[in-house]
Amino acid sequence: MPDPEKIRILIVDDIADTRENLAKLIGFEPDLEIAGMASGGQMAIDLAKRERPNVILMDINMPDMDGITATEIIANTVPESPIIMMSIQGEQDYLRRSMLAGAREFLVKPISTDELVNAIRHVHELEKVKRARYTQPAPVQSAGGGGTVMSLLSREKGKIISFFSPKGGVGRTTIATNLAVALHQATGKPVVLVDGSLPFGDVAVILNMSPKAKTIADLVGSFDNADAEVLETVLVSHSTGIKVLLAPPTPEAAELITGANMKHVLEVLRESYAYVIVDTWPSFLEVVLTMLDVADVIITLMTLEITSLKNVRVFMEITEKLGYDEKVQLVANRNDSSGGIKPSDVEASLGRKIPHTIVSDGRTLVLAVNRGVPFVISHRDSQVSKDIFTLAARLSGDEEQAANAAPAKPAQKQGLRLFGGAR
Ligand SMILES: Nc1ncnc2c1ncn2[C@@H]1O[C@H](COP(=O)(O)OP(=O)(O)OP(=O)(O)O)[C@@H](O)[C@H]1O
Ligand SMILES: [Mg+2]
Repeated sequence: MPDPEKIRILIVDDIADTRENLAKLIGFEPDLEIAGMASGGQMAIDLAKRERPNVILMDINMPDMDGITATEIIANTVPESPIIMMSIQGEQDYLRRSMLAGAREFLVKPISTDELVNAIRHVHELEKVKRARYTQPAPVQSAGGGGTVMSLLSREKGKIISFFSPKGGVGRTTIATNLAVALHQATGKPVVLVDGSLPFGDVAVILNMSPKAKTIADLVGSFDNADAEVLETVLVSHSTGIKVLLAPPTPEAAELITGANMKHVLEVLRESYAYVIVDTWPSFLEVVLTMLDVADVIITLMTLEITSLKNVRVFMEITEKLGYDEKVQLVANRNDSSGGIKPSDVEASLGRKIPHTIVSDGRTLVLAVNRGVPFVISHRDSQVSKDIFTLAARLSGDEEQAANAAPAKPAQKQGLRLFGGAR
């Protein structure tokens, strides 16, 4: 009888010595036990179906059926058995193919005992959390539906939605700007867009604003006294009806603005604006972290590429430590120019939902920028605009109905460790 307290492991490797060595290492650990050993891909599939192991260690290069093919089949037929890939090559291509096949972790041989047992425990732990989360009924009132008091509160204080991406150039500024306009159009409520990408703000360019316009740098020296009225004097009105707080004109001026300054500005703005949309830049400087700290929602933008995915995975580990995890919502931007990685693949490897996607539509974006008008206005019927309006509906206070129709909110707490060495 298998011991239910132990993590049961299936070892798959065509070399008998390797199987024996791995089995020996595992044998020393009181919480681990061997569920079976297979010398090839087909045998691995048969044993996985029969034994339902808690974790599978899978070699890549095997003569009959290779480990990646076997992984693909097992991930579909025995999804409760997470797979750790083992390979002598740590090449990007293996890594990428393993991830796409459904592997959860990638170890490069020679593998130390610590690496091995840590990876096994980690993958097993996350699978347990994942299953507990997926099988729980959805929390009924999590999406701001906490009764009258909640909705009253949310009406009194605006919602701060900060845009972050651990990698640059993924569309943060474009999406934040258009979302701000869409939120204003859809709800009719006051919206302010804050260009918190302090050293390299692009909002002025995207919204075609005068280079002489006021910016947040005009507050340097008087942040402490800046109440709602003072702030109004540096906000710029845009023809779309939103207000904009522009970034300083130079990176040097940006350096004078501290985290405490940003916190003060955002807290004051949320008193008068229903939505405060904040663009940031990919950095973990104190001033950026402050913009994430005060946020109610952190929209984490990513593209479906292996480099973006890797950075997001690392960011997810950081968000957990910083306590942001619950408020992070992933958005996959440029959703169909991704070189073949599907959102569902990424969800599997990150162990969390990507609740929002935005299509790729370079043509519409270029036309809109040339006209100097946000695309949600100039090309309202395009799919990319529809995706932004859907995001706006889900983020806005009136979204109870939208939320019912929308895919589940991000349910997973932990990101899975995919790249063995990159902890
Ligand atoms: N959904 C999309 N479809 C097609 N192109 C897009 C999409 N989203 C963004 N882009 C393009 O990607 C480029 C980068 O966008 P943007 O400047 O908004 O990214 P960013 O993350 O703010 O970059 P940075 O890190 O430099 O601030 C732009 O040329 C933009 O037009
Ligand atoms: Mg930007």
